[in-house]
Amino acid sequence: MEQLLAQIESIQKEIAATVAKTTAEVEAYRIKYLGTKGLVKQIMGEMKNVPVEQKKEFGQILNAFKIVAEEKLEVLLAALGEQDENNATIDTTLPGDPISVGTRHPLNLVRNQMVSIFKRLGFAVAEGPEVEDDWHNFGAMNLPADHPARDMQDTFYVQEATENNSAWLLRTHTSSVQARVMETQKPPIRVICPGRVYRNETISARAHCFFHQVEGLYIDENVSFADLKQTLYFFVQEMFGKEVKVRFRPSYFPFTEPSAEMDISCQICAGKGCNICKHTGWVEILGSGMVHPNVLKNFGIDPEKYTGFAFGMGVERITQLKYQVNDLRLYSQNDLRFLQQFKSV
Ligand code: PHE
Repeated sequence: MEQLLAQIESIQKEIAATVAKTTAEVEAYRIKYLGTKGLVKQIMGEMKNVPVEQKKEFGQILNAFKIVAEEKLEVLLAALGEQDENNATIDTTLPGDPISVGTRHPLNLVRNQMVSIFKRLGFAVAEGPEVEDDWHNFGAMNLPADHPARDMQDTFYVQEATENNSAWLLRTHTSSVQARVMETQKPPIRVICPGRVYRNETISARAHCFFHQVEGLYIDENVSFADLKQTLYFFVQEMFGKEVKVRFRPSYFPFTEPSAEMDISCQICAGKGCNICKHTGWVEILGSGMVHPNVLKNFGIDPEKYTGFAFGMGVERITQLKYQVNDLRLYSQNDLRFLQQFKSV
């Protein structure tokens, strides 16, 4: 017993004095003291020779001894780790992994461009909810229930009308935002309304169940059709360049009178004729007109005093003409090969 205790003590001293600076030296320590044939195991093996009445006390001494040996190993390993960090095992001159920068969605790029052109003309941006009541989307826009022109825009209804409640729907155009602006602001009003709109259409290269619009509204005294034409002409020249040609065709919208659609010379084939312009050299890009007196009256704006113009266009169509994107579905498929092409624009 005495002999064994003395042996443990001397081994502990030895352990305390051990210095190990390399991985090999630390490993040698581990093998010598904690390996399967190491000193700790050997001393533990002596347990069987210890008299029964001393087993408990001796067991505790042995455990403490084992812990001392193990803790020393941890200390040595930790010192080794620190040393690695200090020594230049990492080459800090190597180039890092490049951070990949995201790209803007093409529709956002074009929407931002459209907004900035109209901002320069003094238009403010107005936004509104995508889920609308019947009044703001249709009624206020001079489309009372049963108006046949409601069929022009196949509507997703969220809730059918009941005796006491209006129908709720996904807005079919951002004219609903114009309604909200007229409801809360007095003329002069000069806003554009960018936003997503929904129509119940079968998805194909040319149609989608949602798309994006920028609509505009200008109400003041003495606003004329000439102002409308000049504003839109300025817009397309800024968007597509000075060479772009425009033409207006009479059209019909319930909320404008007179109404016109505007075509521009095809930006894909420069007017020579291609699939996009259906070989006519012209592409329709927007609807417009002078705000219908009924719409003004709906918001308490005196049509004898004020006149206004409104227009609405699809961001997808403008993007198609600018970047020759010929399938509407590409915009919402999240294919990085498509999206990353718009990095530098
Ligand atoms: N709201 C129409 C549409 O979505 C566009 C439009 C706006 C037409 C304003 C005329 C005036 O088709």
